[in-house]
Amino acid sequence: MGRFPTGVTVITALTGSGPAGLSANAVSSLSLEPELMLACVDRGSRTLRALEEAGRFGFNVLEAGNAALALGFASKRPVEEKWREVGWSERSGIPVLDAAIVWIGCELRDVISGGDHVIVTGEVLDVAERPGRPLIFHEGEYRDLA
Ligand SMILES: Cc1cc2nc3c(=O)[nH]c(=O)nc-3n(C[C@H](O)[C@H](O)[C@H](O)COP(=O)(O)O)c2cc1C
Repeated sequence: MGRFPTGVTVITALTGSGPAGLSANAVSSLSLEPELMLACVDRGSRTLRALEEAGRFGFNVLEAGNAALALGFASKRPVEEKWREVGWSERSGIPVLDAAIVWIGCELRDVISGGDHVIVTGEVLDVAERPGRPLIFHEGEYRDLA
């Protein structure tokens, strides 16, 4: 699947302990009626625990030029460190990254077992977007569409 080019999202959630987030490319739209999204999330992920606690989460589609941000959110550094110097705001109780060209806020619906990951589905609550090219991930490299 590393040869399948994808965008890069950061899945975010907000709890009383603050924001949590992880880089994820195993994401997809799922249903139009109702509007559902899905993400495949590592069972060991701290963001999974946060989004289960919050009951809602967001998909932030990263803009080109944000490889460092994608690397930061893919790390196991302490969660507060991951968010240091990251621009974000809150919308519908979910963090929205300044670096996102598209943000889709969801209410958590199902958590389905899938080996060492789970498939989380969410019903779309809110969407925001702005112009900009996406960051691309392919064969372990971050790329630009241009
Ligand atoms: C490009 C890229 C895509 C990734 N996609 C996923 C994914 O779809 N699901 C997942 O659970 N982890 C994915 N990861 C790994 C997580 O970002 C990584 O395990 C992260 O450290 C988890 O952070 P957390 O424990 O703070 O939630 C990806 C990493 C990168 C660099």
